[in-house]
Amino acid sequence: MKIAGSVALVTGANRGLGRAYTRELVGRGAAKVYGAARQPGQVTEPGVVPIALDITDPRRVGEVAAECADVSLLVNNAGVMKASTFIDAPSLDAARTEMETNYFGTLSMCRAFAPVLAANGGGAVVNMLSVTSFYTNPFNASYGASKAAAWSLTNGVRLELHHQGTLVVAVHAGFIDTDMAALVDAPKVSPESVAKMAFDAVEAGQIEVLVGERTRTIKASLSRDHELIYPPVQEFWDAAIQGSH
Ligand SMILES: NC(=O)c1ccc[n+]([C@@H]2O[C@H](COP(=O)([O-])OP(=O)(O)OC[C@H]3O[C@@H](n4cnc5c(N)ncnc54)[C@H](OP(=O)(O)O)[C@@H]3O)[C@@H](O)[C@H]2O)c1
Repeated sequence: MKIAGSVALVTGANRGLGRAYTRELVGRGAAKVYGAARQPGQVTEPGVVPIALDITDPRRVGEVAAECADVSLLVNNAGVMKASTFIDAPSLDAARTEMETNYFGTLSMCRAFAPVLAANGGGAVVNMLSVTSFYTNPFNASYGASKAAAWSLTNGVRLELHHQGTLVVAVHAGFIDTDMAALVDAPKVSPESVAKMAFDAVEAGQIEVLVGERTRTIKASLSRDHELIYPPVQEFWDAAIQGSH
């Protein structure tokens, strides 16, 4: 689909990648860009229409789908990352917040906007995922679980919506230079470059975007993940079994 002339809605549009998404949409000539945010007063990008939305509030998600019935491009960008492990985390709070936002929030948006997109000719959905959809990093283990769940939902929603002409694009990225990765000392890509790749994919009808060499290598390694991606836990168990004989 063409971005020029489309009507787009971006979640988490007040900062970081969401803000870059809205700027890129305006730059490509979108007819209208809704910037959805928990604090809509923080949506200050020129040409963007602020909308109040917490994606974990199903009632408000339904209202926004009714208020923004002209949307033809939905960008599910909003997300949280609590840098939490599975076992040592003090409670399930971080894991639940990540799952509520990154999985259930995204699912809720897809369900509410599916009929809107159908009514507007099919359109497209962009789901903002991660390299951690593909593997678990102990640094942000429960976040990875939520992005793996969101990857699964993205594949399923694509299957369920292709008959109505809706393109569903998965964008997987490693570290992006935003608040979310502020504490990480590692190479990061710019949010602007991610936005460009995502909308190039929308315009080309491409269903998956793998941002960066590391993301592409990890995805390509999945069939041998325990050998190529994870530290050698299998060798530990092989040695332990040998030692017990
Ligand atoms: N940064 C990275 O390294 C990286 C890598 C791969 C993927 N991603 C993904 O990229 C997306 C954007 O992240 P970012 O890097 O821009 O992070 P960010 O700077 O922390 O921004 C996160 C955005 O999501 C919003 N948000 C969080 N919970 C929400 C909710 N319940 N309802 C509505 N909005 C909510 C935040 O709003 P508030 O201002 O109200 O908190 C903020 O606008 C996320 O899905 C993230 O998982 C990021």
